[in-house]
Amino acid sequence: MPAQLRPAGIVGTGSCLPERVVTNAELERIVDTSDEWIRTRTGIRERRLAGPDTAASDLAVPAAVKALDRAGIRPEDLDLIIVATVTPDTLFPATACLVQERLGARGAAAFDLSAGCSGFIYGLAVANQFISTGVYRTAVVIGVEILSKIINWQDRNTCVLFGDGAGAVVLQAVAPGEGILGLHLGADGNGGNLLSIPAGGSRLPASPDSVREQLHTIHMNGPEVFKFAVRIMGEASLKALEQAGLTRADVDFLIPHQANIRIIEAATKRLGLAPEKVYVNLHRYGNMSSASIPVALDEACREGRLHRGDRVVLVAFGAGLTWGAAVLRWSL
Ligand code: ACO
Repeated sequence: MPAQLRPAGIVGTGSCLPERVVTNAELERIVDTSDEWIRTRTGIRERRLAGPDTAASDLAVPAAVKALDRAGIRPEDLDLIIVATVTPDTLFPATACLVQERLGARGAAAFDLSAGCSGFIYGLAVANQFISTGVYRTAVVIGVEILSKIINWQDRNTCVLFGDGAGAVVLQAVAPGEGILGLHLGADGNGGNLLSIPAGGSRLPASPDSVREQLHTIHMNGPEVFKFAVRIMGEASLKALEQAGLTRADVDFLIPHQANIRIIEAATKRLGLAPEKVYVNLHRYGNMSSASIPVALDEACREGRLHRGDRVVLVAFGAGLTWGAAVLRWSL
């Protein structure tokens, strides 16, 4: 890690999930699939889906409130709000601005960040810059997705994989040697077509044709994304560890992006970790894109799986293609 004025660390976590649980058996009634296929090929058993009136900010705000409460910080003391999402309430204004207003974080800078499932790690890296340089004192980074609204519910290749949710962390400067020790971000735009929503932007604006052809939904080349993910999860983690001056032998806990249990197992093997050092909640929530890691972090924290001083690796891959990893010394 380059010399910093002060390290940034996580001082509070929170999450919010829709109440409605949708099992694999329910999906069997919608598309030609089976609980057995979904469980064995992905590890997913159920997911949470938001109701028709719920938008990203409706989950983001309660997640942020919980994170602020746990940190003992008032919303008006926030300097920066970053919302990582591919499912904002609207194209603009940014969901971060809607969150700012509803939190009462008057005057805080607020913007959305689009880096697919790596969005939360990218957000953490941006907030880290502002805090470690002393420009801002307190930031909240939220990962939130309502993927159920951008899924083609007739496409069994994608609709069984995703879920809705939000997770948030509050960041402040922490003691030297704690907090974020290493970061690695990357992208390969060459693979952009492997995972995309083709319409709804300036390339293919919404039209009756684009709606009829389901071009506003997730299009994915699953096997290619899978191969990329298996390679990059290990590589990105090792690069972030190297930047922190650590090796894989130093890792106490891994929180990987929750996309597919086989991808998580490959990363676990590459890092030589025992399974009990790896957090998995994919079976309950599916892939929540940028919300996966902060929700897992919040749950791991509340379940007492993280201890002060633990060296924790967070690692994600996603649309873009993008990837990111962070190494933290847990300071809560
Ligand atoms: N139920 C039953 N059969 C299915 C289903 C389903 N839900 N989905 C696909 N199949 C079929 C396919 O049609 C195929 O049948 P065929 O051989 O007759 O053509 C067969 O199962 C095998 O398909 P594969 O694609 O080879 O299966 P694979 O083992 O690769 O698993 C999966 C597919 C789960 C999608 C996997 O490739 C994967 O996890 N990829 C990564 C996905 C991912 O992580 N995406 C990130 C998105 S995040 C973001 O940024 C939004």
